Amino acid sequence: MIVVAGPASNGIGFRLSRILGSKYTRVLTKVFPDGETYIRIEDEVKEEDVIVVQSLYPPQDRHYLQLLLIMDTVKDLGAKSLTAVVPYIAYARQDKRFLPGEAISIKTILRGIEHAGAERLITIDIHNDKSLEEWLNIDYANLSAVSLLAEYFRGKMEKPLVLAPDKGALNRAKKAASILGCEYDFLEKHRDRVTGEVTVKPKEMMVTNKDVLIIDDIISTGGTVVLATRELLKLNANRVYVACTHPLFAGSSYEKVLSSGVEDIVATDTIPSPASRVSVAPLIAEYLEKKL
Ligand code: R5P
Repeated sequence: MIVVAGPASNGIGFRLSRILGSKYTRVLTKVFPDGETYIRIEDEVKEEDVIVVQSLYPPQDRHYLQLLLIMDTVKDLGAKSLTAVVPYIAYARQDKRFLPGEAISIKTILRGIEHAGAERLITIDIHNDKSLEEWLNIDYANLSAVSLLAEYFRGKMEKPLVLAPDKGALNRAKKAASILGCEYDFLEKHRDRVTGEVTVKPKEMMVTNKDVLIIDDIISTGGTVVLATRELLKLNANRVYVACTHPLFAGSSYEKVLSSGVEDIVATDTIPSPASRVSVAPLIAEYLEKKL
């Protein structure tokens, strides 16, 4: 078995190979002066079970093309099997035609991965796991990092309460709450599909003097957690903690979230960021050890 770490995921790729006790290689990549992408796999992959690891954080389109080039090359070079580990799958939030004429972007992304030769796809906390079921004809797994994130907070919070920033994320909050042995709830969030403006409405909620953990799949602009934090502090929450799987932190949103009054922000390493303190490598390794 060999782990082929794409340029976006050298860290996870290396950690994964250490846990699996497998071979590891990085991919040589460069960009030509006209903007085209070059990749070269320098180590032998013939007759190997190959695990390609490449996350699709910004620049998403470049990382996606690198992933397709790597996978197609691995197949050309005679790999025995090909598993794609894509810790963060970009475009997953565009999972339907919200407005007429829009692309269902996640469909195109997933079909491309399949057509480039992946026989199995492993990802972490994809925004909507129904997309995998709907658009893939290969084996797949959507692993959850919620337990790892909740474990991080065990013993660090007083009178804990877990909140999902919207109803769709309630299951995540429920899982984290079961680990922290506390209650959970959700906030009423609305996103304007045209302007992108987000509103978070407080509900009648007993947060006074509680330490609240907001758990989300993605932090992008930080708008959701900043609004939620402000509302919770207005309702006299004691401390507000934030956890997310995929810390995109567009622009200066990490600083924006930090200065909104949160006590701490913790995320996984599906995307490198100052908050990425929890590695998903053991989760992926555990799954692969059962499968391969
Ligand atoms: C949306 O449904 C997701 O679960 C996240 O809540 C969202 O992507 C966060 O985005 P932002 O940080 O821009 O508010």
